[in-house]
Amino acid sequence: MSTILSGIQPTGNLHFGRYFGAVQNWKKLQQEHDCLYMVVDYHAMTMPFSPLKLKQNVWELIYNLLAAGIEPENLFIQSLIPEHVELGWILNCFASYGQLGRMTQFKDKSAQSAEKSKDDFISVGLFTYPVLQAADILIYHATKVPVGKDQDQHLELTRTIAQSFNHKINKEYFTPPEALYTQVPKVMSTADPMRKMSASLGEKHNIDLFAEPDRIRKQIRSAVTATAVDGTMSPGVENLFSLLRAAGQKEAHDSLMEDFKSQSLKYVDLKHTVAEALVAISEPIRERKAAIKADKKAVKSQVKASSEIIRKRAQKTVKEVKELVGLTNIRF
Ligand code: TRP
Repeated sequence: MSTILSGIQPTGNLHFGRYFGAVQNWKKLQQEHDCLYMVVDYHAMTMPFSPLKLKQNVWELIYNLLAAGIEPENLFIQSLIPEHVELGWILNCFASYGQLGRMTQFKDKSAQSAEKSKDDFISVGLFTYPVLQAADILIYHATKVPVGKDQDQHLELTRTIAQSFNHKINKEYFTPPEALYTQVPKVMSTADPMRKMSASLGEKHNIDLFAEPDRIRKQIRSAVTATAVDGTMSPGVENLFSLLRAAGQKEAHDSLMEDFKSQSLKYVDLKHTVAEALVAISEPIRERKAAIKADKKAVKSQVKASSEIIRKRAQKTVKEVKELVGLTNIRF
């Protein structure tokens, strides 16, 4: 059976962009596959961060993911399995400095880091981030990695590392993993439909999955729809249609699309339908979160238990890898 693995950063809120782009797909995949999903707190340290906030964000995201329907036995916190870092170190020695320097995410994020920190600080962790990601994947011999297109280069690097490792030890030990892309179109900010819906752009640029229904309605009502020239669809309207599709409202989508084609579409109708579709998704999830948060202790021991079980798999890989590269492997 193939193993599917993905990670999510404990930064920002869980908005509809992340829900439709990742979490909804994770939920489907876990019905048929061996799936491992983790909150990547080691990765979150690569940008300027606050220790207190990091911990809060991790647990908030755990509650959110459980509320959204991720099975607790598939979910773990990266730092509860320190073997990721141990394998990460070893893989650092199989990763090329030149290839890491070409990562576009590093270029983007190092600029952001320098700006955010005010003293131009860029951590070495940010540079080697993709190697830790390779370790995250290879440590479970995961073959399929559901991610967005922005992670292409990181997956390519993971494959290169796997191959150079295999080459060094003269054995097909790691299977180079493949990216698994979601069918869902990219969800854009309703306030600026030329940019991706994102937490870092600020509140109005994302719609929180856990927002009160009236807040969701208000955000959709104020979505930018500016009409494009010569009857083509403006990016804002296109985005509203995308949201409707992502929300699984195919019939409403198709019928409103007919209206658009016959030039009888009223944006208020489109917005109303989108808003109600999002509210319908959000409400049960929001209720489940309240129930989950009512017993935080239970959640913590559940996550601890699942991390412990998953850790055994990571330990097996690290033991084998140490043996293969000639590191000392004595049990104390
Ligand atoms: N880099 C990923 C992101 O920013 C998060 C991530 C870390 C990840 N480790 C991973 C994704 C392993 C897939 C597999 O979205």
